[in-house]
Amino acid sequence: MAAKQVTPCLVILVLISLLASPLSAAPLNRRRKSLNTVKELNRKGPYLGLITVYPPEENAFFATGAFEPHPRHPFVDLSGRRFRIGKIHGKRVIYVRCGVGMVNAAAATQQMLDLFDVIGIVHFGIAGNANNSMSIGDVTIPSQVAHTGIWDWLKPNETLAPSHVAHLDFGNYNAPKGKEINQLGRIGYSHEQFFSESGEPNTARPLFWAQISQHWLQLAANLEAMELIQCVNSSLCLPQKPKLVVGLRASTANIFVDNAAYRDFLIRTFQISSVDMESAAVVTSLSNGFPVIVIRGLSDLAGGQPGKNSIQVFGPLAALNAAKAVIQFIKSLPGNAS
Ligand SMILES: *[C@@H]1O[C@H](CO)[C@@H](O)[C@H](O)[C@H]1NC(C)=O
Ligand SMILES: *[C@@H]1O[C@H](CO)[C@@H](O)[C@H](O)[C@H]1NC(C)=O
Ligand SMILES: *[C@@H]1O[C@H](CO)[C@@H](O)[C@H](O)[C@H]1NC(C)=O
Repeated sequence: MAAKQVTPCLVILVLISLLASPLSAAPLNRRRKSLNTVKELNRKGPYLGLITVYPPEENAFFATGAFEPHPRHPFVDLSGRRFRIGKIHGKRVIYVRCGVGMVNAAAATQQMLDLFDVIGIVHFGIAGNANNSMSIGDVTIPSQVAHTGIWDWLKPNETLAPSHVAHLDFGNYNAPKGKEINQLGRIGYSHEQFFSESGEPNTARPLFWAQISQHWLQLAANLEAMELIQCVNSSLCLPQKPKLVVGLRASTANIFVDNAAYRDFLIRTFQISSVDMESAAVVTSLSNGFPVIVIRGLSDLAGGQPGKNSIQVFGPLAALNAAKAVIQFIKSLPGNAS
């Protein structure tokens, strides 16, 4: 029995050390509380997962007025992100803003799938336009997305490997074109390493074009006729009515493309129509076969325009058109949340 006796002095010491260590108790308790809320919410699932990237897209999403917050648990905070719980057109949804770039996109998508009872992901926001038949304000719902940021950066003239899906030679971009060798050499584009539940465990397979779920694309085709917004305000309008196009190709990398030569390279090499920094990460995170769709409003020409990038001026309009398409898509889904 003597061993069980704890002196008051020791108790005080332990208490002081707990209170004095900011790393331990408080965040862990908060996390435990959040996970309990998640458990409770999951009993009322399933939910449709919605993922945007940055504040202008989030503002546009809430500005549609379609999101009705959960009366008791309007949000759960986890790992620094705020997951918002609610309904859109009677369907249960969980919304999160992941943050810019592929790491944020993959982490938030995986969190969403592992923690919540989610039946699929709708990823949306804005993108750079890389198709001369598309215009700023248009909405693209691609059928394929590629991660175009996995490179082998090679010496000038170095032989490409059979695994390289494409290459870019910096020497081709010398201006004025001279004989001198460009020391930046060349880039060989590689596949993504894709792990999936339908494949061998612990074995990645090469993947370049990630496919968007066919049955959701078919549903989305009905949105092509929907009305989109043409004016930023009373004095600034797009020259023509924006359109929504389903079935193009999108490219993703941790690169904000604002460069005409690189935009043209991407168009010629991969026949893509939009560039962004998250879509491929969201889509390839869905290695478990859940349905996924990407809906992006075009805010700028990715460097194809002379002068200043138009993302500041047309970003909010592009974000609103993407959000409107998302709301229509959710409305058209059959059942409560499927
Ligand atoms: C690369 O190839 C070109 C054309 O074949 C040749 O003129 C040049 O010397 C080569 N450069 C290097 C660094 O080997
Ligand atoms: C560019 O967009 C148009 C629709 O506006 C489409 O018909 C065309 O196929 C697209 N180009 C490519 C390379 O995908
Ligand atoms: C409309 O928006 C543009 C771009 O943001 C801005 O420069 C202009 O002042 C706005 N006009 C009105 C009437 O709000």
